[in-house]
Amino acid sequence: MRPQDLIQKKRDGGELSPEEIALFVRGVTDGSFADYQAAALLMAIFLNGMSEAEAQSLTQEMLRSGEMLDFSDIPKPKADKHSTGGVGDKTSLVIAPLAAACGLAVPMISGRGLGHTGGTLDKLEAIKGYRVHLSLPEFREILKSVGFAMMGQTADIAPADKKLYALRDATATVEAIPLIVASIMSKKMAAGLDALVLDVKTGSGAFMREEARARELARALVATGNSCGVRTEALLTDMNQPLGYAVGNALEVHECIAIMRCEMNEHARPVLDLSLELAARMVSSAGVESSLEAARERVQRALSSGAALECFRRNVEAQGGDARVCDDPSRLLDLNLREVRVESPHAGFIVKVDAAEIGNAVAAIGGGRTRIEDEIDAAVGFLAEAKIGDKLSAGDALGLLYCRDETQAQSASARIRAAYEIEDAPPSLPNQLIKEVITE
Ligand code: URA
Repeated sequence: MRPQDLIQKKRDGGELSPEEIALFVRGVTDGSFADYQAAALLMAIFLNGMSEAEAQSLTQEMLRSGEMLDFSDIPKPKADKHSTGGVGDKTSLVIAPLAAACGLAVPMISGRGLGHTGGTLDKLEAIKGYRVHLSLPEFREILKSVGFAMMGQTADIAPADKKLYALRDATATVEAIPLIVASIMSKKMAAGLDALVLDVKTGSGAFMREEARARELARALVATGNSCGVRTEALLTDMNQPLGYAVGNALEVHECIAIMRCEMNEHARPVLDLSLELAARMVSSAGVESSLEAARERVQRALSSGAALECFRRNVEAQGGDARVCDDPSRLLDLNLREVRVESPHAGFIVKVDAAEIGNAVAAIGGGRTRIEDEIDAAVGFLAEAKIGDKLSAGDALGLLYCRDETQAQSASARIRAAYEIEDAPPSLPNQLIKEVITE
């Protein structure tokens, strides 16, 4: 079958067979499909969608385009968490050590921040010396000895995704749910997991802003994961404001270590609550505990006993970082920064927050990237003190901005101030952190 026959079939609303999908993915990977043909097929998929069977075949073929990591020599259940990303979304740094302290092996392959969303690798690199570029043998050794290891995507894992993602980006087809599912799940499935918990975010700082679309994505991810033999569930969670307290790499690591030291600021509570729940679901799905209730208790004990912090410390040491931050998280902070109080312009209730704008404001002063090759300034950021539903007087703090100079102070504080909608009446509905659990 020629590429144009596949394009025609999908263009006319047909369903591609597993063999035809295999042909497409192989053609993209080995270059026998021209970019314009792959792009045309992507657009046909964008417009006509894919059946569950097609999405599963696409995931399987993208997975097969690269290497499977084999951790079968590690005698522990393997589990991971994936978040669709957001602003202040730092839970991986708490979840990985919590789950590892409960007896799981967590091979976490993470990404960098781009645009308004942060990335776990950038956060970890805020710890002096921390190495995220590991060889596979090093990654395996740390996973074995510590219980979790963190690194970036390698060229050998689902290489078809790299090509397809670049084409999707250039052809306005990123948002197609079956393409997102295959992209995320082909990379996650490569780690040979027993269980996967997904945190699908919805709201003003999320990749999928609309709740109905986020739910649709969550359901499709869960169906695909389960069909690939990995016990998969998803939480649909709030991203209508920054998660917890800090936005900015070093500030976020500080927040996570404070949580693991059981000395967190109350503003960080949503990070703790969400981390405990996601970790408990990893522990129960992977079969370490037979009930979710028992898993929740186990995860709570791993936190309160200090076992999770110890696990984090061992990971930082193993990955070359300065583990003294575990005893004194203030070592992460740069005391030369300017601290600027961002104030509410008038009295009222916070009814809405443009979380993406806060992420973008921090990225624009160096805290994130607008292009993948940009350098970042790990120290700058924002501490979000005021939350949706809070009642403020004029001049009360929305939060604290940490930046380098007056120009940054002016531009970022104006953007952040404008991201908060403050009205006379409180919001009609409370903001719910976990909106739904999707298991099938
Ligand atoms: N994240 C991914 O890895 N792929 C997508 O397509 C979207 C988000």
